[in-house]
Amino acid sequence: MSSPYFESVGVIGAGTMGNGIVQVFAMHGTQVTMIDSNPAALERGLGAIEKSLGRLVKKESISEDEAKTVMGRIHTGTDISDLKDQKLVIEAVVERMDVKAAVFSRLDEHMPADTILATNTSSISITEIAATTNRADKVIGMHFMNPVPLMKLVEVIEGHATSAETTATVVACSEAIGKVPVAAQDYPGFVSNRVLMPMINEAVYCLMEGVATKEGIDTVMKLGMAHPMGPLALADLVGLDVCLDIMNVLHDGLGDSKYRPCPLLRRMVAAGQLGRKSGKGFYDYE
Ligand code: CAA
Ligand code: NAD
Repeated sequence: MSSPYFESVGVIGAGTMGNGIVQVFAMHGTQVTMIDSNPAALERGLGAIEKSLGRLVKKESISEDEAKTVMGRIHTGTDISDLKDQKLVIEAVVERMDVKAAVFSRLDEHMPADTILATNTSSISITEIAATTNRADKVIGMHFMNPVPLMKLVEVIEGHATSAETTATVVACSEAIGKVPVAAQDYPGFVSNRVLMPMINEAVYCLMEGVATKEGIDTVMKLGMAHPMGPLALADLVGLDVCLDIMNVLHDGLGDSKYRPCPLLRRMVAAGQLGRKSGKGFYDYE
């Protein structure tokens, strides 16, 4: 795709999602600048990309030289001022409105007026995020799925003021990196997490109430419903803190008690057992 929106992209956040988004753009020829306020997270993000590319080399999907070329397209920085004139920036910082608001108002100040500011939020209102900028027509949800290098979907969410031109550009960019964009409306959790997270939350209730063991719950969903992994293993992949943040947005935004986060989920997050990224969640990853 030869478009200024695709030549050079900025990604804010080097965590689970940020580093996957960076990898996929870099694999499609885009120069990518990955920004994270925590230098250790940048190192971990680069390490995750190297590991993922290593798996693809092992499978002979790409050569070692191609993996090196991809790494060469990735640049890093600890502040938004390290971005230059990118026409597309994708935010993937923690799922908290206060943090996202601060990032978007800085991006709005720093980036050229025609730059599209996309968010990978799982559940927060695109319209509210857009309202922290002076370019609501250029703010959009570009919701990738985890693990980004493997999952085909990008949920594309227009805020109240997103322009048709912004949406068309983000749809074209998603297709250019081999993804399938699907439109969803700006309501809490959109489609993906409105459907997925209550299932994960209910699985945590089953564990808390002793309905079955964690292995039992996951096996029921794998063998009984043909899910590729059980809901508790999936919660570990997503991050238990992210699951809790999303449940809170669903609960606050839709006001229905069916979205209340399970107390065991709250307790595990308070204990720092966040899943794969912390080495322990429902399962151990040491
Ligand atoms: N990069 C490159 N390759 C990877 C990879 C990565 N990050 N992760 C896994 N792979 C490869 C493995 O090397 C393996 O390749 P081979 O089959 O060729 O050996 C293949 O993918 C399968 O991996 P595994 O054998 O380790 O495990 P698996 O068969 O269970 O597959 C999975 C892993 C693709 C993650 C699969 O279990 C799956 O699809 N799980 C469900 C994922 C899901 O639901 N994602 C959505 C989460 S919700 C979300 O993202 C939205 C939100 O806002 C929270
Ligand atoms: P994560 O905790 O793995 O990573 C977040 C990163 O953001 C961290 O490295 C942190 O240092 C960085 N960060 C925090 N504040 C920052 C700031 N002000 N400036 C720059 N960097 C900052 O989180 P994640 O799982 O990658 O989630 C990121 C976003 O993607 C969230 O909005 C989440 O809801 C969404 N999302 C997550 C998943 C998932 O499966 N984990 C899937 C789809 C979407």
